[in-house]
Amino acid sequence: MSKALRYLAGVRPEAATHLLGFYKQSVKALDPKSYHLIQIVTKVVVGTERGLRQYAPKALKAGASREEIMDAVLMAFPAAGLNKVLDAIDILNDLELLPPLPGDAVAPLHSSPELGPIEEFPLGKMHCVNRPEGDLIVFRTGERTVRVYLARCPHSKATLCKGVDHGDRVECRVHNWVFDLASGRCLGPDAEGKPGMVLVPAEVREGRVVLTA
Ligand code: FES
Repeated sequence: MSKALRYLAGVRPEAATHLLGFYKQSVKALDPKSYHLIQIVTKVVVGTERGLRQYAPKALKAGASREEIMDAVLMAFPAAGLNKVLDAIDILNDLELLPPLPGDAVAPLHSSPELGPIEEFPLGKMHCVNRPEGDLIVFRTGERTVRVYLARCPHSKATLCKGVDHGDRVECRVHNWVFDLASGRCLGPDAEGKPGMVLVPAEVREGRVVLTA
């Protein structure tokens, strides 16, 4: 439930009860994935960024693929028009919930193995490095030690560079998995059996952080 609906339920409980009852009854035959995909269509038609940011991650969580989310956006076209569809594409690309461009998946570029001087990475803080072949997260653990990870969440590939920075942990914004930056381990929720962040071999050489593989 959105903050605004929670507020409405507090100040106008009767109105909110009826409204929520209507919502519940009107979708009772739909499975969660279809429900959330249809929500995407309606949010694109209405042009609400807040609604898209709320429902598109839920569609993914309910089992929709990025291609299906793209289909939902395009289905809104006859009612929404081109501008709202393009706005929605910008928002969903920002959340990394749309299919990648074909070239993105197959053209790794070989940029320099150097990530920068060690002083650029403050101790115990998460630091994102944007690279053509994919973003990295650097976490400095000591005067001359670092851990470097792929920035892609091991769950469903959202970027952890846009995750919530909790200092020594990062939380993915899509399904809220939390990772320990010193070890890369998944801390939860329900961490058992969940994959950790993907470690990239790196070391500090003559005061610079360098990828070694
Ligand atoms: S994509 Fe699901 S937790 Fe990150």
